[in-house]
Amino acid sequence: MAMIKVVSAPRRILLAGASGTIGSAVAARLNAEGHAVTCASRAALGDPALLAATMADARPEVVISCIASRSGAPKDAQLVDFQANIVLLDAAQTVGAAQFILLSAICVQKPLLAFQRAKLAFEARLVASGIGYTIIRPTAFFKSLSGQVKRVKSGKPFLIFGDGNLTRCKPISDRDLAGFISEAIGNPEAANRILPIGGPGPAISLREQGEMLFAAAGRQARFRSVSPAIFTWAERALQPGAGVSDWFAQKAEYARIARYYATESMLVLDPVSGHYCTDLTPEYGVDTLAAHYRELLLAS
Ligand SMILES: NC(=O)c1ccc[n+]([C@@H]2O[C@H](COP(=O)([O-])OP(=O)(O)OC[C@H]3O[C@@H](n4cnc5c(N)ncnc54)[C@H](OP(=O)(O)O)[C@@H]3O)[C@@H](O)[C@H]2O)c1
Repeated sequence: MAMIKVVSAPRRILLAGASGTIGSAVAARLNAEGHAVTCASRAALGDPALLAATMADARPEVVISCIASRSGAPKDAQLVDFQANIVLLDAAQTVGAAQFILLSAICVQKPLLAFQRAKLAFEARLVASGIGYTIIRPTAFFKSLSGQVKRVKSGKPFLIFGDGNLTRCKPISDRDLAGFISEAIGNPEAANRILPIGGPGPAISLREQGEMLFAAAGRQARFRSVSPAIFTWAERALQPGAGVSDWFAQKAEYARIARYYATESMLVLDPVSGHYCTDLTPEYGVDTLAAHYRELLLAS
């Protein structure tokens, strides 16, 4: 769904996760638009008295959550993506906030991982809570597609899974996603909606990301293929220890996370065909991954 562009009147907004990648872009955008922004720190979310005092001071009309488990490990995901968001939702309802905007992820539409299940469980609680909600499910961030810049710059081949065309996504920049989030504030088109969103398109495969990166570096593209099956083998080796050790449970989950991103597209799943669909994945913004790669190469 493409939202009608709305620049909302200045509002009192409480933002959680402002120290993160997207949260910091959202904070910059909200401040530039003249909203009265209060940031809730990690400490405030862990301390009910401090959170109540922060909320009482801020009296937010809108609460935006950009918090997320930094590790994706099962226990941390439950603690942050579910539990910390519940604490925030309860506090938002106590002070009578009208809208709760949640930064989620497009991958929750096919939940095979602990952090996806934690996010989905919170989404369900948010929808059932009675507060006005907007759930934003973006595709891949630029930072997640920039891990091989140094490899390529140092002359190494770009690593792909299979032939490099197993997955596709529509990358979105931090700044564009922050713009999309800010346009959801008080926007009737975003009211009580779950909104998947991608960048300006087109959808690109991992191989095309590599070609883009080599072009930005002015080099001939070179690839090395890796089988996603290595993650299945790793998981099989680690999983037997998961029942008795957190270390094994975490590492087995990391292997599942790696396999997921190696094999699943970050596009909307067509409910009829069951396949990922470029056309069903809305586009927003102007920033391109190619320009981002050029900036990173210049800076590194
Ligand atoms: N990476 C991608 O390509 C992608 C694509 C689609 C969706 N997403 C989703 O986007 C979301 C945000 O991503 P991001 O990259 O902006 O995250 P990030 O940079 O890792 O930032 C996470 C934020 O959450 C806060 N946080 C972590 N644990 C907390 C806790 N226990 N209590 C309170 N706050 C806590 C962090 O605070 P501290 O600074 O104190 O740690 C930080 O502000 C995630 O839900 C992710 O799944 C990511």
